[in-house]
Amino acid sequence: MRKFELIAPCHFGLEAVLKKEIIDLGYDVLQVEDGRITFFGDEEAVSRANVFLRSAERILIKVGSFHAETFEELFQGTKGLAWEEYIPRDGKFWVAKAASVKSKLFSPSDIQSIMKKAMVERLKESYHAGWFEENGASFPVRVFLMKDEVTVGLDTTGESLHKRGYRKLTAKAPIAENLAASLIMLTPWRGDRILVDPFCGSGTFPIEAALMAANMAPGMNRSFTAENWPEVVARRNWYDAVDEAGDMVDLDVVTDIQGYDIDDKMVSIARENARLAGVEKLIHFQRRPLSQLSHPKKYGFLITNPPYGERLEEKAALPALYKEIGERFAGLDSWSMYLITAYENAERDIGRKADKNRKIYNGMMKTYFYQYLGPRPPKRQKQED
Ligand SMILES: C[S@@+](CC[C@H](N)C(=O)[O-])C[C@H]1O[C@@H](n2cnc3c(N)ncnc32)[C@H](O)[C@@H]1O
Repeated sequence: MRKFELIAPCHFGLEAVLKKEIIDLGYDVLQVEDGRITFFGDEEAVSRANVFLRSAERILIKVGSFHAETFEELFQGTKGLAWEEYIPRDGKFWVAKAASVKSKLFSPSDIQSIMKKAMVERLKESYHAGWFEENGASFPVRVFLMKDEVTVGLDTTGESLHKRGYRKLTAKAPIAENLAASLIMLTPWRGDRILVDPFCGSGTFPIEAALMAANMAPGMNRSFTAENWPEVVARRNWYDAVDEAGDMVDLDVVTDIQGYDIDDKMVSIARENARLAGVEKLIHFQRRPLSQLSHPKKYGFLITNPPYGERLEEKAALPALYKEIGERFAGLDSWSMYLITAYENAERDIGRKADKNRKIYNGMMKTYFYQYLGPRPPKRQKQED
C-alpha cells in the first residue's frame, strides 16, 4: 500500500486535541505546527482520517515541499513534484487555496496561476500530451508558504470536515462543528455525564456531544473528494472506513444532554439538526431563558457559546447577561462551566476568574475558552457480582 505524509489543518490553539485524536486513531505524528498536524498514513489512513477525526478541518496528501523566494523558484519547485503519481490524464486540477506567512511571495492569485502553469508543464511531459481536457475527477491543491518554505498538498476532503451533513439549518452565529467538538474534547466531559448548553442556538454543542456519546464518526454520512481518486485511494478503503464506523455506533447509550435557547425558532432548528444527525433520541431541547436555568443533579457541565455582541444592540445587554450566567452557575451544585466567547469582559461580569483560559482563533476572530472547573464526582463503587 502507498504511504503518504498527511496534513490535517485545525483551529489555531487546538492542535493538541487533533494530535491526540490522530494518535488514538493509530497513526504516528510527524510534526505539530500552528494550525496543522503532519502525520504518516497509507490509503486506509486517508479514508479513516476523513471519516473519524472530529477536530480536523480537512486531510491533505503532502505532494512535496521546497524553498522559493521568486516566482521562477516556485515554478521550478512545483514542476519538480511528481504530480503524475496522483493526477490522471483527465484529472481537473487547480490551486484552490494559497496562504502565505512571512514569505517573499504572498499574492495568492499569482501563486495560484504560476503553480497551475507548472503543473500543466509537468503533466504534459509525463503524459506526452499537448493539452488536457480536465473533464475527470477534481484534484484541488492547497499550498502554504511559511518563511519561503512552500508546502504543497492535495485536498482529499473537499467541503470542509466541519460540515458533517447534519446542519442544514443554522442559527445567527453558529459555532463550527469541529470547533465545538474540539472544545468538548478539551473538557473532562464523557458521555455518561450531564451536559447542558443554555444558549444552544442550532444545537451544535449538544449534537456533537451526542455523536461522541453514541460513538458516531462525524464523517460517516458525507462524501469526500478523494472517493473519486481510485488510483490514489482504492475504493474499498472508503467502504471499510464507513463499515468500521457503523459497527461502533451505540444509539442505546444513556445520556443526559440538554440544549436550551430563549428563541423558539432556534429550538426547532436544533431539534431538526439533531434528527438529521440521527441523535435526536439522545438530546432534550427546550425553549428556556437563562433566567430559568437550574438542574437538580450535581456534577454537570455547562458547555456553551453565549452571545458575544455580534450586533451592536446586543452589546449593551452583555454585562447583565454575563452577570446572570455567573449567578445561574453559582446556583448549580458542584458543576463545571466552559464557555467560548469573544466578549472581553466575560470574567469580570461573571464575577469570577476562570480557573483556566485558552486563546482560540475562530477564523480571524480572537476568542477565549473560559474554564471553571468543578469538583470530580466521587468514584462509583464497583458492583459486587
Ligand atoms: C452565539 S449563539 C449560539 C450558537 C450555537 N452555539 C450554535 O452553534 O448554533 C447564542 C444563542 O443564545 C440565545 N440567547 C440569547 N439570550 C438568551 C437568554 N437570555 N437565554 C437563553 N438563550 C439566549 C440566542 O437566541 C442564540 O441562539
